[in-house]
Amino acid sequence: MSEGWNIVCENLTVRYGAGENRATALMDFNGSFIPGKITVVFGPSGSGKTTLLKAVGTLLQPTEGRVNYNGKDPYKMLRKELLDLRREIGISFQHPLFVSQLTLWENIELVLNSSGKLDERHRELAYSLAEQLGIKKLLSKKPSEVSGGELKRASIVMSLSKDPSVVILDEPTAYLDEESSKKILEVLEGLREKGKTIVVSTHDPELIRVADVTYRLRYGRVVEARGDSGI
Ligand SMILES: Nc1ncnc2c1ncn2[C@@H]1O[C@H](COP(=O)(O)OP(=O)(O)O)[C@@H](O)[C@H]1O
Ligand SMILES: [Mg+2]
Repeated sequence: MSEGWNIVCENLTVRYGAGENRATALMDFNGSFIPGKITVVFGPSGSGKTTLLKAVGTLLQPTEGRVNYNGKDPYKMLRKELLDLRREIGISFQHPLFVSQLTLWENIELVLNSSGKLDERHRELAYSLAEQLGIKKLLSKKPSEVSGGELKRASIVMSLSKDPSVVILDEPTAYLDEESSKKILEVLEGLREKGKTIVVSTHDPELIRVADVTYRLRYGRVVEARGDSGI
C-alpha cells in the first residue's frame, strides 16, 4: 500500500496580473506526480517551476485546467476536505518563511501544531531530520542567527516533520554546499522508499540525475518529459 497521492495535472495554465500586465507563467502543463517516485521540474529562472509547484501544492488556483488528487480537484473541495488534504502536503518554499521572533524549533512546532501533529512521534521525526541534515544544534536559534543554507535546511525539516504524504520542495539544494546537498538527496531517497509523492524543482544536476521522472520547462511550457509518469 503506497503512502502518497496520485496527482494528475490536466492542461494546467496559470496567468498573473491583469490587463496589459497579464502574463502566462505556466501554459498547458500535462503531467503527473506519483507515489514512490521523485519527480523533478527543472528549467531556467522564470520558466514557471515555482508557479507549477504552488498550483500543485493547492496554494495557487490555476487560471485554466485542473489538478487532481486521487481524481479530486482540491480547488473544488469543501473547506474541511481541503484542510485535511493540506495537512498531508509538506511544502518547502524557495525562499523559506519563518516567524522571526520564534526559534527554529518553535517554528517547527508551530507547523506541527497547525497540522494537528504536535505529538511525540512528529517531534522525534523533526529531531532525527534535523540531525540528518546537520542542524540539530541550531534549533534553539532564531532565523536571523543562522546562515541562508542552514535556514534552507531548517525549512526542509519544517516541511517534512509532519510526515506528509506529498512532499513539495522548491529548489531544496539551492545555497547549499555539496555535503549538505548530498544529505538532502539521501532524505529524498528515503522518502521515495516510503512511497511518498515527491515533487522537486531544481537546477542541481545531481538531483536531476536521481529523479525517476523529469519535466523540463521553458517559458512556462514543457519542452521535454522523461521517465514513466503513467498511472
Ligand atoms: N506573483 C507574480 N506576479 C506576476 N508575475 C509573476 C509572479 N510570480 C511569478 N511571476 C512570473 O511568472 C514567471 C514564472 O515564474 P516562476 O514560476 O517563479 O519561475 P521559476 O520558479 O522557474 O523561476 C516569471 O516570468 C515570473 O516573473
Ligand atoms: Mg522558482
